[in-house]
Amino acid sequence: MMTLHENTDCPPSSVSVTRQRFTREVIAGLGAERKTLSPKWLYDRAGSALFDSICELPEYYVTRAELSIVERKRGEIAATWGPRVRVVEPGAGSGTKTRLFLGELGAARCSSYVPMDIAREHLAMTAVRMRSELPWLHIVPICADFTLELPLPPSDDNARNVVYFPGSTIGNFEPPEAEQLLTHFRVAAGMGGLIVLGIDLRKEPSRIHAAYNDAAGVTAAFNKNVLVRMNRELHGNIDVDSFSHYAFYEPRKGCIEMHLVSRKRQTISVAGRSFSFAEGESIRTECSYKYDLPSAERLAHKAGLTLVDAWIDDERTFAVLELQAA
Ligand code: AVI
Repeated sequence: MMTLHENTDCPPSSVSVTRQRFTREVIAGLGAERKTLSPKWLYDRAGSALFDSICELPEYYVTRAELSIVERKRGEIAATWGPRVRVVEPGAGSGTKTRLFLGELGAARCSSYVPMDIAREHLAMTAVRMRSELPWLHIVPICADFTLELPLPPSDDNARNVVYFPGSTIGNFEPPEAEQLLTHFRVAAGMGGLIVLGIDLRKEPSRIHAAYNDAAGVTAAFNKNVLVRMNRELHGNIDVDSFSHYAFYEPRKGCIEMHLVSRKRQTISVAGRSFSFAEGESIRTECSYKYDLPSAERLAHKAGLTLVDAWIDDERTFAVLELQAA
């Protein structure tokens, strides 16, 4: 059985709601003194495809490291979840790692899978694919913006909620937002619920730098795609080649920032507004925070969570953390 649960924030055509938000955020973000856009706008259809290509790049170690942990340790990890669980995935992506866990749980232990995403079409695709690969699975897709709410329907049995947030996506939130999001997850998971979180670990800065400055220029294309998107969706007149991709790692913050730097003094028009750039002025399009176990534990603690377990690959590249309400 598969029912698409909606909330009032996600009408049948979520496209217009998304377009309105995009317009509002572009006007606010490009109008600010330090120009910024949320990384969520990097993921239209082309951006998502480019991100999938990034995951295959030799320099981008993140996906491979996480997958190697899940492939090798999924039995051990899932064994800690108990006899019956409901797996909730905010911002369900391609689902490769989730599928491994669901397969491990099987029909006997998995009461349902709840993928959640603001993009209705993407959500439907994930649900259909999961259904064809795991026909026994009860899927309850929910169309919602998980950064605003996590509207879980009541569970029809006593399954424990496991909120699975892989991919080091938590790193794309500023620490106060990450804390808020984890608090949100804790509340949604309820009494005894678990949060299983993928984090990219702090490491040799040159390795991180290379991962966001790949030789083939895929990350640059991914970054610049937000300009293409503004042109297409918000009637922009941006000369995409007049901006360059710039990503740098700040080891003291443990954060790599991605920017689009204007190569000249110019005024662009987008969403019916004009925005001026000095030569060298940038739009920050993404932060990707890297954690170590103590800083991840501090973050979890602020969100009312305790670290109950951690699985780390041999090279100490990536960690899968299991968190529970303190
Ligand atoms: C989705 N997110 C965890 C990626 C990251 O590494 O921060 C997005 C990305 N940006 C550039 N490359 C990959």
